[in-house]
Amino acid sequence: MKKLKTGIIGIGNMGSAHAKMIVAGDIDGMELAAVADLDQARRQWAKEHLPESVQIYENADQMMGQAGLQAVIVAVPHYDHAPLSIAALKKNLHVMCEKPVAVTTKQAREMQEAADQSEAIFAVMFNQRTNPLYKKAKAIIDSGELGPMKRTSWIVTDWYRSQSYYDSGNWRATWAGEGGGVLLNQCPHNLDLWQWICGMPIRVTAFCQEGRWHDIEVEDDVTAYVEYENGASGTFITSTGDTPGTNRLEVVCDGGKIVVEKDSLTLYKLEMPESVFSATYKGGFGEPKHTVEKLDVSGENPQHAGVLRAFTKAVLEGASLTADGREGIRGLSLSNAMHLSSWLGKTIELPVDEVLFEQELANKVSQSKKKSGTGQTLSVEGTY
Ligand SMILES: NC(=O)c1ccc[n+]([C@@H]2O[C@H](COP(=O)([O-])OP(=O)(O)OC[C@H]3O[C@@H](n4cnc5c(N)ncnc54)[C@H](O)[C@@H]3O)[C@@H](O)[C@H]2O)c1
Repeated sequence: MKKLKTGIIGIGNMGSAHAKMIVAGDIDGMELAAVADLDQARRQWAKEHLPESVQIYENADQMMGQAGLQAVIVAVPHYDHAPLSIAALKKNLHVMCEKPVAVTTKQAREMQEAADQSEAIFAVMFNQRTNPLYKKAKAIIDSGELGPMKRTSWIVTDWYRSQSYYDSGNWRATWAGEGGGVLLNQCPHNLDLWQWICGMPIRVTAFCQEGRWHDIEVEDDVTAYVEYENGASGTFITSTGDTPGTNRLEVVCDGGKIVVEKDSLTLYKLEMPESVFSATYKGGFGEPKHTVEKLDVSGENPQHAGVLRAFTKAVLEGASLTADGREGIRGLSLSNAMHLSSWLGKTIELPVDEVLFEQELANKVSQSKKKSGTGQTLSVEGTY
């Protein structure tokens, strides 16, 4: 069988987990041909843990020029996602880019333009899209069976992180190294799922508290309010300081609601749309009757492996991707808008003004304090 010769750029926490999956044979049709990392200690790790056939490079340029690759996985800190993905796409190498696709929507747009001009595939690692819970939630909302959406609320505070997590990498939780906090590091998955299931809002108002629970300069606590074109509203609340955290997505529609919490999906269906009940009911304090059903959402959730398998099949057989580059820009627009709203203290209309965002982020970066990381690799067990 033809194998997709793949190289990984950055073999820290996430890149090394990808490497392990590929060499373990979990990704049918994908071969790990090379890895590149700027850090000597990580290259030493590769030497000790990866098969001899995997070539090891000091940087991505060397690897992309010499290793005879067809595809790369970009798993470096976020600011380098854009330049490295664009360099790969210009060489017609297929790209699987880690989330967030970039730090700014301008970078993400430029990445997509490079993809449009190349013959290569450009994909984003949105591994939570393989979760049967969210797939089912999307199918219900897309089917229209619950009628128009009225409100959506996501409390996602189960991204708890300790100070030692933030202290591990010198790039982490700094404006200069990461370009954001919980919105850019942990929440790209949720923001992507939110827009995937509920669609894109048209305006965003947000309050981001920087260094609220940790000694960091970026936000670790966010409350956002959004409005959709049909008049529906939404809230998104996140934090890395709460424990035990909550993860509850509720989508309320005219005909009922869905609640996704922990591992369950509950469907509430009204016997008639609320708007019809309200217009026709003649009593005092009545409510429409409803049914409650816990839906079966058992099934495989292959996460990162599933996304890499889809990517391999897309390249080798023309199958569809879990998420392409265009999908990456939507969730990123939400986080850019939340940041901008909080920094400027006003409501932001979407699409976000990418020039203004770049200017405001540059202000933050100019005040960013350098920090030294402990250099600790937090997980090489693929537990993400
Ligand atoms: N999809 C997920 O579930 C998931 C989970 C964790 C991290 N991530 C993403 O993966 C990316 C990396 O995160 P991490 O936790 O692995 O970080 P990390 O710091 O553990 O690893 C990054 C590695 O990249 C190397 N590197 C940095 N710049 C480089 C460059 N220009 N060329 C080559 N190597 C370079 C570093 O030396 C380091 O070894 C981030 O964008 C993060 O958001 C995704």
